[in-house]
Amino acid sequence: MSQSEVAWWHFLSEWADSLQSKQPLKIDELCEKYSLDSNQVKEFVDYFEEDHIDLRPNDLEVCMGSTCRAKGNEAIWDQLNKANNGRVPESQIVIRPSLCLSECDRAPCSKEGSKIRTNEDQNWLNRILRV
Ligand code: FES
Repeated sequence: MSQSEVAWWHFLSEWADSLQSKQPLKIDELCEKYSLDSNQVKEFVDYFEEDHIDLRPNDLEVCMGSTCRAKGNEAIWDQLNKANNGRVPESQIVIRPSLCLSECDRAPCSKEGSKIRTNEDQNWLNRILRV
């Protein structure tokens, strides 16, 4: 195993521990400790961390992967954010982008809490825009 592979192995081990313990990951410290490229590490963590963040029931994740954007998620993103900005802060919902929800065949996809909303199920959008 190369020195770089060993460094990544140590990093991944600490990353897994932080996910299990729900403690924040000190990326910069770990990059320095294991001599890793911080941009590469941040890109890696950002990509995979989304799988481990629990959404609250009303939180939304809008897929901004290329397939979903091509099928209309940019417009959906704009509609949701425009509606959200018009609400009082207490009733605003959390909306965040996602790289890919792994349902590209059913694009455009979004996630509402733990439920994936696909092209077969777009009523959720009207419901949220009405509230
Ligand atoms: S690009 Fe949206 S689910 Fe993959």
